[in-house]
Amino acid sequence: MNKSVNSSQSTFFAGKVVLVTGAAHGIGKGICEAFLKHGATVIGTDILEKELLEVDKEIGGIERKAAFYTYSCDLTDESNIKELIEYVINYFNRIDVLVNNAGGVCGQVHQPVEEVSAEAWRKIFSVNLDAAFYTTKAAAPYMKRQNYGRIINISSGAGRSTSLTGIQAYASAKAGQIGFTRQMAQELGAFGITVNNVAPGFVLSNPSTQKQWEAMSHEKQQSLVESISVKRLGEPEDIAYPVLFFASDFASYISGQTISADGGLQLF
Ligand SMILES: NC(=O)c1ccc[n+]([C@@H]2O[C@H](COP(=O)([O-])OP(=O)(O)OC[C@H]3O[C@@H](n4cnc5c(N)ncnc54)[C@H](O)[C@@H]3O)[C@@H](O)[C@H]2O)c1
Repeated sequence: MNKSVNSSQSTFFAGKVVLVTGAAHGIGKGICEAFLKHGATVIGTDILEKELLEVDKEIGGIERKAAFYTYSCDLTDESNIKELIEYVINYFNRIDVLVNNAGGVCGQVHQPVEEVSAEAWRKIFSVNLDAAFYTTKAAAPYMKRQNYGRIINISSGAGRSTSLTGIQAYASAKAGQIGFTRQMAQELGAFGITVNNVAPGFVLSNPSTQKQWEAMSHEKQQSLVESISVKRLGEPEDIAYPVLFFASDFASYISGQTISADGGLQLF
């Protein structure tokens, strides 16, 4: 466990304890930064201990208002998650916002379905869906006790339609996560807890997406950008802002919903 502090440009989330999974780079890091800028106490967790400490150095340590803590663990192991939530409660006595962001394609690429192993399928499910179930299960009793909670799951356009990667398990796990979001919204709403989902579009925030982008011809890259209504790829902060909205009291009457943060790529 490591702690540092960050400059706070606003106190919008002052007093709120926010747990963000998958915080070691990319979108998770962007979400941590955005909450810190608005005064929250943020716990960033990831399996990548070294990278998490780099994030801590980069986004912590500027001023003395909001605080950033890191906690390294493998989120596919339920016992680790129980310990993580216990750590948050023991330390901060509450958990206001849970952002289930850890996920991705686990270094996999498309294979014809008949060649996909059960192990590869399960690996993607375990980080993209099981982990969100474990964290929600562990955090729900404390959020119920507070009669307050905001859970935000990060899915993907792949979960609303199909994946550009062609990876079957990824599209399926992300679609499952959207279903989980709706079911949890219904179950937990009576306890002052909302559960919502942000579905990012194409963000060059991780090695897999970067590789996917570089493997495209210039024409294909242009045609992808052209298909996005706002004519640009996403940045981590484009995903962080709808997360902040769902976490705020402006969204207290919204639950079970999915926002596509994709610049108008998929239009429903
Ligand atoms: N980048 C995109 O274009 C894009 C598009 C749609 C959805 N998403 C989703 O957004 C989320 C963040 O994506 P990103 O682009 O920042 O990817 P990323 O790979 O940079 O971040 C995911 C983080 O999750 C962590 N993680 C993976 N397995 C873990 C485990 N078992 N335990 C703990 N941590 C683990 C990784 O170490 C990594 O830091 C993911 O859920 C991804 O599926 C990304």
